[in-house]
Amino acid sequence: MSADVYPVPDAFAANARIRRDDYQRLYAESLRDPDAFWGEAAKRLDWMRAPTRVKDVSYALEDFRIRWFADGELNASVNCLDRHLETRGGKTALIFEPDSPDGDVQRISYRELHARVCKLANALRNLGIGKGDRVTIYLPMIPEAVVAMLACARIGAVHMVVFGGFAPNSIADRVADCGSKLIITADEGLRGGKKVALKANVDAALKLPGTNSVETVLVVRHTDGAVDMQMPRDRWYDAVVDGQPGECEPERMNAEDPLFILYTSGSTGKPKGVLHTTGGYLLWAAYTHEAVFDLRDDDVFWCTADVGWVTGHSYIVYGPLANGATEVIFEGVPNFPDASRFWQTIDKHQVSLFYTAPTAIRALMREGDAPVKRTSRASLRVLGTVGEPINPEAWRWYHETVGDARCPIVDTWWQTETGGILISPLPGAIDAKPGSATRPFFGVQPAIVDAEGKRLEGATEGNLVLLDSWPGQMRTVYGDHQRFIDTYFKTYPGSYFTGDGCRRDEDGYYWITGRVDDVINVSGHRIGTAEVESALVSHHDVAEAAVVGFPHDIKGQGIYAYVTLKQGIEANDDLRKALVQQVRSEIGPTATPDHIQWAPGLPKTRSGKIMRRILRKIAENAPDQLGDTSTLADPSVVDALVRERREA
Ligand code: WTA
Repeated sequence: MSADVYPVPDAFAANARIRRDDYQRLYAESLRDPDAFWGEAAKRLDWMRAPTRVKDVSYALEDFRIRWFADGELNASVNCLDRHLETRGGKTALIFEPDSPDGDVQRISYRELHARVCKLANALRNLGIGKGDRVTIYLPMIPEAVVAMLACARIGAVHMVVFGGFAPNSIADRVADCGSKLIITADEGLRGGKKVALKANVDAALKLPGTNSVETVLVVRHTDGAVDMQMPRDRWYDAVVDGQPGECEPERMNAEDPLFILYTSGSTGKPKGVLHTTGGYLLWAAYTHEAVFDLRDDDVFWCTADVGWVTGHSYIVYGPLANGATEVIFEGVPNFPDASRFWQTIDKHQVSLFYTAPTAIRALMREGDAPVKRTSRASLRVLGTVGEPINPEAWRWYHETVGDARCPIVDTWWQTETGGILISPLPGAIDAKPGSATRPFFGVQPAIVDAEGKRLEGATEGNLVLLDSWPGQMRTVYGDHQRFIDTYFKTYPGSYFTGDGCRRDEDGYYWITGRVDDVINVSGHRIGTAEVESALVSHHDVAEAAVVGFPHDIKGQGIYAYVTLKQGIEANDDLRKALVQQVRSEIGPTATPDHIQWAPGLPKTRSGKIMRRILRKIAENAPDQLGDTSTLADPSVVDALVRERREA
């Protein structure tokens, strides 16, 4: 083993759910006989009809199919609620920690959550929503977000959550693509004391083309801010839910019936609707949540993600609730009112399992140790990270300063497409190395290939593929099955291509090196370069734009845009500001460019393809690493860009 290894602490290993030899044995079994392994694992769910079939998968293009538990029937909300009522109905499911630390904490038991979900589910049925209908959820991080998702699941409606930071255009694109009939939103959100005009954004979105499918907008009263209610379309959430019965007959769902759609960015075009189904997804979320966090009945789990991202779906809603856990749901941000908020909240609610993003760790690390050290954090047992590679320096700070060198860290690699964690330490079984996601979960078969698809063995580096399916895998791109196959299964036939680069070391540990496609990972959020380019080009002064990522101390990657203006347009700071604003209002604040460089021309091949490799190096300010520029149609544009960059 290489020097920088953090062994599983002995005390932790002694009581761990999964120990070293368990991992080896279970992993081997999961590959040797997937039907037996996953057939057994599926018993952790409550089925209305137990599956007799387990795995039915072919990645071959001519005979493509991914099906798990295909004759099983279940309901996800029953698994997250009803089945806990007898044994732990009074147990707290959600601890709501509001934006302001002085605000009212809500503790919601499983029994109460069940009643709230049933009431909304009944209300949705009364509004004409049924199995297979798409429902958009655009809410702040409040308990109603969880209630709304589970209420959809209860009646078989397919939820499509839009992150509260997205702008009207992004809402409209998604609503139009999936043909949503109903939207659940709130008057306003609150983040770090600032209001977010959610209902107004929905109003603006519904004025855009393609959104006619929406018949009803339910509005949660949250801040009591003034909103325009447009009758009969808009209804107050309280009013439709009040008086509904607290019981609701759950829909029987086939394991392969859709549970949700969640849009995510790719290399090309608009974000695609990643579709997950009911049985395999739920099993994956629950099993990984229990195993990776070594979950116990008395744990308090806190995942700081927003429900608008897949991390919130799998590790705020479906995983923890299927496992009957107690969890914190947090409306605010890490640095409000100050940089001690996370650690104070951990003490306040006695959080034992904490799951956050490297970007938050880096930002808080910059504030020094004092905000951490004035809290106890004695309740912590396991620390987790997700969303992007964590640099070893931040890992060590998290381990030593936050965890007092006591708590194992699980660096969990996965994607919206994978439904849940695929590569991660199991805290009682796998020694950690700072910056490595370590080893695959049960059933997961990573491999590294070169650009031509040749399998590379041993210690090596290349592109990460997965050789076989796992139950939590996405099943299709909503409305475009061919795009699903083309995007993930054509590049390296016979395997799923992740879009990530990866190194494997001499111990067989995996180190994710970042995206190898045109996706930028900004603070753990996926942004497609094509989306930002299209937002820029929609400004009337812009002729052409090319966007690349560059290394950023806090965000991991920042957004760097090269913009060519139309003839006769003068480049100035006002225009630069207008373009930044254009991107924010077309996509949302997460896509804000960090730099805009005026580009008289862009480096293109003779066939007109923009050479992003070169633009990335210029953005990094590494002009000595440009490589071969001789294939460019006009190599002189590069000199001009390098000169400008240096002067900037
Ligand atoms: C990156 C988030 C390194 C990766 C769950 C992946 C990571 C993309 C890690 C998916 C990690 C996620 N180490 N990189 N532990 N976790 N990534 O769909 O590039 O929002 O492809 O899912 O995030 O982002 P997504």
